[in-house]
Formats: sequence, C-alpha cells, structure tokens
Amino acid sequence: RKVVLAYSGGLDTSVILKWLQDEYDCEVVTFTADIGQGEELDEVRPKAEKLGVKEVFIDDLREEFVRDFVYPMFRANAIYEGEYLLGTSIARPLISKRLVEIAQETGADAIAHGATGKGNDQVRFELSAYALMPGIKVIAPWREWDLNSRERLLAYAEANGIDIRKKVDGGSPYSTDANALHISYEGGVLEDPWTPAEDSMWEWSVSPEDAPDAPQEIDLTFERGDIVAIDGEKLTPYQVLARLNELAGAHGIGRIDIVENRYVGMKSRGCYETPGGTVMLRAHRAIESITLDREAAHLKDELMPRYAKLIYNGYWFSPEREMLQAAIDQSQKHVNGVVRVKLYKGSVSVVGRASESDSLFDEAIATFEDDRGAYDQKDAAGFIRLNALRLRLGHRQR
Ligand code: ARG
Ligand code: SIN
Repeated sequence: RKVVLAYSGGLDTSVILKWLQDEYDCEVVTFTADIGQGEELDEVRPKAEKLGVKEVFIDDLREEFVRDFVYPMFRANAIYEGEYLLGTSIARPLISKRLVEIAQETGADAIAHGATGKGNDQVRFELSAYALMPGIKVIAPWREWDLNSRERLLAYAEANGIDIRKKVDGGSPYSTDANALHISYEGGVLEDPWTPAEDSMWEWSVSPEDAPDAPQEIDLTFERGDIVAIDGEKLTPYQVLARLNELAGAHGIGRIDIVENRYVGMKSRGCYETPGGTVMLRAHRAIESITLDREAAHLKDELMPRYAKLIYNGYWFSPEREMLQAAIDQSQKHVNGVVRVKLYKGSVSVVGRASESDSLFDEAIATFEDDRGAYDQKDAAGFIRLNALRLRLGHRQR
C-alpha cells in the first residue's frame, strides 16, 4: 500500500512519516505546498529523502490559492462569527485537492495529514478528499497513536534520527499556521482566554502603537469584484495579496484575538494576522456600495454567514457552496471601479470610491441642492402613507 502525506518538513509531520512507514508498513509519498507561508522549502526534499521517500512532490500553489480560493471567498465578504477571515479554513480544500491528485498520479490508495482529532482541520481535509475521491482512505495519526505529548513525540523523533533542534530552540511556542492570507496562533499561553497575547508573538504586523505617524493612501482597482491593480499597477492575485500584506502589516492592520466555535463542538481561542485580507474586505464592500443594487447587496449579506460557515466547517467542495458561489459570482458582474483607502495605525478607512462604467450613485438625485426635478419629493408622502397603512390599522384595532 502507498500513502500520500501532507508533509511540511517540520517535526510533527516527520514523525508521522516515520510512523506511517513503521506502523502501516507502507510506502510514503510526500506532498509539500508553497501557499505563501513564507518558509524556505529547500530542505524539504533532502529531509524526505533521508527518511527513504522516493516520490517527493513540492508545488508552488500560491497563484492558484489566491485566484481560485481566496478571491472567490472575498467576493462574498465572508467572515466567520463576525471576526474571522477564514485564513486557515480556505487553504485546506486546496491541499486536499492536490493530495488526491497525487494519489491518483502515483497509484496511492490513501492520504495522511497531521491535523489532530480535536480540530477543524481534520474535518476540512477529509470532507474535501472524500468529495473529490470517494474511495480514498484517510490516515490521521494524531487520532491513532499514543504520542500525545510533546515529550513522547520528541522521544520518538530522537529514537528515529529525526532532527528536532529547530523546534526546541528557534520555533514559535504556539501552534501556528500560515499562508498567503494569514498566520494563526493557538495554544500555549493563549489557552487561557483572559491571558493577553505577548507582543513578541505577532510576526506579520507591527503593533498599532509602533506604526508610522504618517498615514498612507492606496488605490485599489476592481474588476468583477477582484482586485487587479494597486496604484494603477497591474498585479496577479497572489501579488496583490502579498503587496497588501506588506503595506497593511507595516501600519499595524489586521490583528484579531478571538474565541471561536470549532465545528467539533469546543470553543477555542486564537490570534490571527490578516493584514492584506482586512484591507481587501473593506475595499470590496466600498466598491460594492456604489455598484451593487440594494436588494442584491442585502441578499448577499444574508447569505454570507451561511457561506462563511460552509467554508469554516470544510464544505468547500459541496453542492451548496457551489450554488452560493454561482449566485455571488453573478452579482459581481458590475463590481468594477477604484477604491482609495487610508492605512493608519491599525486601521483601514475608505476615503473614496469611483466607478466610471458601473456606478449606481446618482449625484443629481442624492444632492441636498436643487435637483432640477430629478426627484419629486411629493412622491415620498404617498410612499410613506401606504407603508404606514397596516401600522395605522393595527393601532386602531388594538
Ligand atoms: N482555528 C482556526 C481555524 O480553524 C485556525 C486553525 C489553525 N490550524 C493549525 N493547524 N494551527 O480555521
Ligand atoms: C489541529 O487540531 O490540527 C489544529 C486546530 C484546528 O484544526 O482547529
């Protein structure tokens, strides 16, 4: 039997690799993706080969990730529980998609991942994999083995010649996950929701207190709801997000510290940095504010929490997500134009929005000055009286 393992090159997945070889007596194929996590992947191949792996896949999925997953999600203005921009959630389906493709290419019958049995990630990986390859077997070592403490994991690693140095001194004391959209921190001192995050924890942004005194304005150009240029310079989706992360991170934008409801039923505390995504969301709502019809916009807002929950819970590859996506994408046809945002000490504010081709904003009608007959104020009296009819009848009756 043959297994494709989602392999980061780090301690945990190296132990999993060895464990799979021993426990399942199987050939392991490794898959490592660059989805913009900002880690050097040069060491991954030699590490895997040293553990006897013959087929090592290392893919640059940065553009695909932002173009086919992050951008479609931002068209919906998706936010989970009012705060979380779904940075980890949206990356999992892509990893599973590649795992399954590689299983098919290499003739493997199973995939394996390093998510624990307590989290959301296992659900996301596995729902995606089953949706794309119904007969696939999934191995989740964290749910099976008895290496459930740091100590035992390290002991197993040492006994099997796996390099543990990096984790022991250099590494973050938190469980972190990073990609082009965000970096997350969980565990460690964060397990007490009253304990504040240490300032040294945050890796992608300066603290708002230390951000520059001078604000910075940038122009974001939208086509069909997607940002295609910054300050007039055409960029690919990944380039847009990478650039926004730098600009917004330097101004202390995009940090949150929340307690969220995991799909498996527990509450968990996490800190997230999503600098570029925070700017994208704000700017997207601003371009929609002048280009979307009111009822279309309100319907989007009603559907959004459902859509966000689908992504959080791992149902990216589902008929209901695809159905909602079709409606959302259709709504973006006229979402074209430019938004000017100001970045300043942890905040992003919209200072201007314009759409030459698709603005529904009519100055002649909205003006407080003389509208020269564009809008007849007398119409409003009947509009209000008819809307009040049932309120008046109701009051009389009761
Ligand atoms: N709680 C967040 C989510 O469920 C982040 C998960 C981070 N995952 C990790 N393996 N550290 O989307
Ligand atoms: C994990 O348990 O692997 C990470 C946390 C999560 O998936 O929610």
